[in-house]
Amino acid sequence: MGEQSLAVEGDSTDMEDRVNNRTLRPVSSTFREFMTEGWESQEPQQKALESSAFTPARLQSLSERFPGERLVIPAGNLKTRNNDCDYAFRPDTTFAYYTGLGEDFEAGAVLVLNPVAEDSPEAAEGRKHTATLFVHPRADQSTEDYYRSSQYGEYWVGPRPGLEELAAMTGIETEDIAQLPDALSKDVGTEQGAIRVRVVRDADPQITQMVEDIRWANGFDSPDDNTDADGKLHEFAAEARMVKDSYEVSQMRQAVDATKLGFDRILERLPEVADKPRSERMLEGAFNSIARERGNDVGYGTIVASGSHAPVLHWMRNNGTVSNGDLLLIDAGVEVNSLYTADITRTFPVGGTFSPLQRRIYETVLSAQQAAFDVAKPGVTYSDMHHTVMRVLAQALHDWGILPVSVEESLSPSGQQHRRWHACGCAHHLGLDVHDCAQARYESYQDAPIEAGMIFTIEPGLYFKDNDLLVPPEYRGIGVRIEDDVLMTEHGPEWISAGIPKTVDDVEQWMAQRAAAGQR
Ligand code: GLY
Ligand code: MN
Ligand code: MN
Repeated sequence: MGEQSLAVEGDSTDMEDRVNNRTLRPVSSTFREFMTEGWESQEPQQKALESSAFTPARLQSLSERFPGERLVIPAGNLKTRNNDCDYAFRPDTTFAYYTGLGEDFEAGAVLVLNPVAEDSPEAAEGRKHTATLFVHPRADQSTEDYYRSSQYGEYWVGPRPGLEELAAMTGIETEDIAQLPDALSKDVGTEQGAIRVRVVRDADPQITQMVEDIRWANGFDSPDDNTDADGKLHEFAAEARMVKDSYEVSQMRQAVDATKLGFDRILERLPEVADKPRSERMLEGAFNSIARERGNDVGYGTIVASGSHAPVLHWMRNNGTVSNGDLLLIDAGVEVNSLYTADITRTFPVGGTFSPLQRRIYETVLSAQQAAFDVAKPGVTYSDMHHTVMRVLAQALHDWGILPVSVEESLSPSGQQHRRWHACGCAHHLGLDVHDCAQARYESYQDAPIEAGMIFTIEPGLYFKDNDLLVPPEYRGIGVRIEDDVLMTEHGPEWISAGIPKTVDDVEQWMAQRAAAGQR
């Protein structure tokens, strides 16, 4: 299989740009005609997405922030993995948020918010923008692209939504992507009453270039000012996503539920794979298969880190052996079809029972997590949770004779020795991205009051590297992280991952139950 196989010499489709020397291609006009006849029509999805009831409010607040400006929000496009093979497509997060589209909808599409004219009927209704989704029309069996375009042709990719279908799904008006250049350049200028354009820069380099060309042709010739203006759009979108609406909360609960099933499947396989070479990979496969069965994909690269890999914060090579007697740290999340992801870490004793030392470290991390949860309430900041976690960890490290200074000295800004064993963050926003809202300003994130509707992780850990000469030998090569997902409500925090066991007793019991289920 390869996209070249039906390309025709002299084609000007997307196939032309790719190396094309390994298949015979039919070129006759007889073939072209033959390929457009005798197909029964197949209709793709036409139903309104649940998200379409929630995007109007999101679009409204975006519109109010940037009156009189044209806002360009691309989905992004396919990325070549090699030759004619692409990576799986995932739409850019800003695009997904404002269109409500998930899964792989829709490479090459662009959402544009266009400012309304002052004397227009829309302005009379109090609207500041109209939203239009520019998309590629369907390439169904009535078109030559049906078999010639590997990106859009339904011979290649199956029935896919075009203008009519995407309008029905999103509730947003659609137009042919061919109209985009004219739509973006119309009335752009620096003079009074002319239009300024902002684009989410990172999503699609071709669209960003299109916007830059339009700007330079119309007097916007300061690269720094342009980049800065674009950054403000991205920043606004990130901050807008901090407080989740009820649809987003329901999607997050589904992501957490699917993630629980992924951990169940890991524990079912654990006894059978323990002590086998590359058993980390076997467990990764177990989780990732649930992610594909129950959701869109994993929300980030699954970390399966056994023994001395556990203190390696981003261990994703997962090629080690899961050995009986070691601790096994697994950080994994299912991303559901709407693209919301969970982010859960559990640390397991591979044989099913914690040793006294493993238990002591584990329970310290658990108490640090609970302490952060206990201080979390509307009005408290991420920094407050961070300091709470750090005090618990520093005290334990002191009590174990590991911390070389007093607890207070270590906690002071000029000390921080305890961070040797916890150098990462211990909380972050979660949603469409695992590290959601990352473009937000520091003062809106780390130092901002947590509000009802925010969803975030609490994820303390202790990481003793196997070559750490400053800890007793028995600590070396042990890593523990416990990570859960929290919804802040007006009445306080709710663990939305409370269904995933985490006390020592519950974890041991859960492991035994799933091990038994795995044998049946
Ligand atoms: N899985 C990435 C994180 O915990 O932040
Ligand atoms: Mn996390
Ligand atoms: Mn994580």
